Amino acid sequence: MVRQPRRRKAYPRNRFAEGDHALLIDRRGRRYFISLSAEKSFHTHLGVVPHADIIGQEIGARVHTATGHELLALSPTLGDFVQEMPHPTQVVYAKDLGAILMYGDIFPGAVVLEAGLGSGALTMALLRAVGVKGRVISYEVRPEFVEKARKNIETLNPDPKNLEIKIKDVYQGIDETGLDRIVLDVPEPWHVVPAAAQALVPGGVFLSFLPTVLQIHHLQEALWESRHFDLMETIEVLVRPWSVTRRSVRPVHRMVAHTGFITIARRCALREGPGWDEDEPGVSRGPEVEGDGVPGEMGLSPGG
Ligand SMILES: C[S@@+](CC[C@H](N)C(=O)[O-])C[C@H]1O[C@@H](n2cnc3c(N)ncnc32)[C@H](O)[C@@H]1O
Repeated sequence: MVRQPRRRKAYPRNRFAEGDHALLIDRRGRRYFISLSAEKSFHTHLGVVPHADIIGQEIGARVHTATGHELLALSPTLGDFVQEMPHPTQVVYAKDLGAILMYGDIFPGAVVLEAGLGSGALTMALLRAVGVKGRVISYEVRPEFVEKARKNIETLNPDPKNLEIKIKDVYQGIDETGLDRIVLDVPEPWHVVPAAAQALVPGGVFLSFLPTVLQIHHLQEALWESRHFDLMETIEVLVRPWSVTRRSVRPVHRMVAHTGFITIARRCALREGPGWDEDEPGVSRGPEVEGDGVPGEMGLSPGG
């Protein structure tokens, strides 16, 4: 287990200390992620900065390279870290992490099953949301990813006592019961639906992150056919950054067009009645807008 040296006592929380992570950003927005160690220096084409020049400085300080270039020194946010950390697998980035936490209704104290662990990005967000009183159990089928993910997680959260990682194929079943939430980032989540129906608490939330529409369709079919799930909905999060300068305000020319779809369902009592393709009045199948036409009135939020 890799532990970062921590001498937090030497500096207040708002100053960099030995062992901290720092995100250095140059005037052109290039980002450099470093771990502070008094005897090391940071080298870039803009010049050298001894780490000792950063240790003891306030977070947000402007430090200068030996050749006079300015670098902004910040502590990385979770979103920054996910972008910069080594990742042997595809990871879930900030725009989807935020939506997963809200649509999955991940609350402090929740017991959450996640699969697969991958590089640990989603695990970090889940751990932060469940807090010290909650638990995250993460299944990963490929052992070679586990140590790398653990290293990423422990960089920001050195002793995650409430995380249990299991080398296990989630398609083969779920060991736990009484789960508040199940969050999946695996390619064939429909195999998990029968076990999820048994493992979730009544009203528990099932959430799956998937890249393609064919997978979504397959999953929704399995959820519907299990008859234990309802309020299924699939959303996509599109984030359009804007360029704001003194003279112009416009959307940036490029944006991330697609990452994945988030499908959510609630674990409910067994449904009697028609199948997926047979119309049944009163059964909510997604975020249709009814009433006064206010989005969110009908099934937009699983908690709502
Ligand atoms: C896209 S990655 C997950 C990335 C992760 N959510 C993150 O943000 O870092 C998918 C992971 O699921 C794992 N996986 C695939 N099928 C699985 C299964 N049946 N059971 C457990 N893990 C599985 C893969 O080995 C891979 O590590």
